[in-house]
Amino acid sequence: MKFPSSSTIFPLLSFLLLSSFQTVTLADSYQNFLQCLYFHSENNATSNISQVIYTQNNSSFSSILEFSIRNFRKHGIQIRIRSGGHDYEALSYVSDVPFVILDLINLSEISIGGENKTAWVQSGATIGQLYYRIAEKSKTLAFPAGVCPTVGVGGHFSGGGYGFLLRKFGLAADHVVDALLIDVKGQLLDRKSMGEDLFWAIRGGGGASFGVILAWKINLVTVPSTLTVFTVHRTLEQNATKIVDKWQYVADKLPEDLYIRLYLTRSNSSSGRTTIRATFECLFLGGVDFLVPLMQQSLPELGLEKADCIEMSWIDSILYFAGFQGESMDVLLSRTPTSFGTFKAKSDYVKEPIPETAFEEVYERFYEQEAESAVMIFIPYGGIMNEISESETPFPHRAGNIYKIQHLVYWQGGGDEAAERHINWIRRLYSYMAPFVSKNPRAAYMNYRDLDIGTNNNKGYTRFTQGSVWGFKYFKNNFNRLVHVKTMVDPGNFFRNEQSIPPLYSRK
Ligand code: FDA
Repeated sequence: MKFPSSSTIFPLLSFLLLSSFQTVTLADSYQNFLQCLYFHSENNATSNISQVIYTQNNSSFSSILEFSIRNFRKHGIQIRIRSGGHDYEALSYVSDVPFVILDLINLSEISIGGENKTAWVQSGATIGQLYYRIAEKSKTLAFPAGVCPTVGVGGHFSGGGYGFLLRKFGLAADHVVDALLIDVKGQLLDRKSMGEDLFWAIRGGGGASFGVILAWKINLVTVPSTLTVFTVHRTLEQNATKIVDKWQYVADKLPEDLYIRLYLTRSNSSSGRTTIRATFECLFLGGVDFLVPLMQQSLPELGLEKADCIEMSWIDSILYFAGFQGESMDVLLSRTPTSFGTFKAKSDYVKEPIPETAFEEVYERFYEQEAESAVMIFIPYGGIMNEISESETPFPHRAGNIYKIQHLVYWQGGGDEAAERHINWIRRLYSYMAPFVSKNPRAAYMNYRDLDIGTNNNKGYTRFTQGSVWGFKYFKNNFNRLVHVKTMVDPGNFFRNEQSIPPLYSRK
């Protein structure tokens, strides 16, 4: 068989040479390739070649490329952006469609400003590393973010982010004053160039819907040099139900310097019987001599004594609540998690105290086999959270909430069967709680991502109505503005996942 010569074939073809050369070396290779093509073609074809090669510099390039395309779905590959990898539903590194991971773990520089109490933090840094760098500079500077040091700032700040300073200073996202982001066009934007709508959206609306956040600029906060902490346990035999009940009436009304979170777990009483244990964990921005009388006045049922309390610096309180009491603060630089459990979590907001009888029903569920390592964590609101408007950032859960609940169940091994049993257990608990928590919508915290509350159509177009099933739970009416911002900055829905903000009129 005789192959047609290049002189006959070239006029029939168009060559679309795609390149995105950014370095001299690659640009040189590109030119070399063209010259090679010219050199090896037959003399009489050379002039024809230049007429059928279309580089991206050629004005006909796009129209020729797109002329015969009939399936705009194209490859369907998604991009997953990972900073700390702590997403509760693993959306930063798992997908049921082909995807690439953009891992920012090496982008982890932190620079703490001087007098003006600011810092630039790259997205791949952890909150533990941020706390470490702040503590290196000052004993009285701090930042109001999460408890677990290995959480990444990329996802944490973009979904809200809170810890023991919540009632005094609000969320991490409330203290972001600038950011660097790469948008869908590949442009590097700061607050000024991205505009206030997009800057608003990434402070609580989840970064993964809008672009790749490279770094945050944050305002640090000032705390006293001496703080006080305590952890006190009470079982049912020690009147736990009455204390929990009273806590519901005071936790959001206490002075904002006082934060008492509460969690319920299954435990063994001193007589060896299975019981329920309520644990009260407190951070007070002041000394023990102020705290004890305050507690005796506001929650005397707990019976707090001076001996239960420890005075310490803010950075030591970070170590204390992270389970590293007495260790060097160097542990905050480690990215290795202390536990590798399998878990499922859900969240709720509480606007009216839950009746004691309902707690008794909850306890019954904790006695079931699957609840051996289950926990309900109650996070007190009030304080500054009441003063920030619902639309200040996409995070809407402000005034009117007494507390948030995080429902969690852990298990080890057992494969799909164990996973199903434990996930069913937490779903049943969540169903049971419905009458006692926020309604229309039943609100949820975005950083405690829960795909049970609704998802996008990950393989196709997501209508506004479908997105709003989960979107209003996380963002209430802010969901409307998030959709508007998304439609402006990423109308083709390049940045998407199972719970990303859908644009209006997207083809995908
Ligand atoms: P990960 O990298 O998995 O990202 C989470 C989401 O953000 C993904 O959708 C991801 O694509 C996106 N994203 C990440 N980096 C991005 C970037 N640079 N640009 C754009 N999008 C980006 N929360 C809290 O408020 N207080 C707390 O105390 C805790 N404690 C806690 C402990 C533990 C053990 C876990 C597993 C989680 C928490 N959380 C928490 C929840 C935590 O805030 C939430 O999971 C964050 O989204 C985690 O951010 P990462 O960067 O670590 O996760």
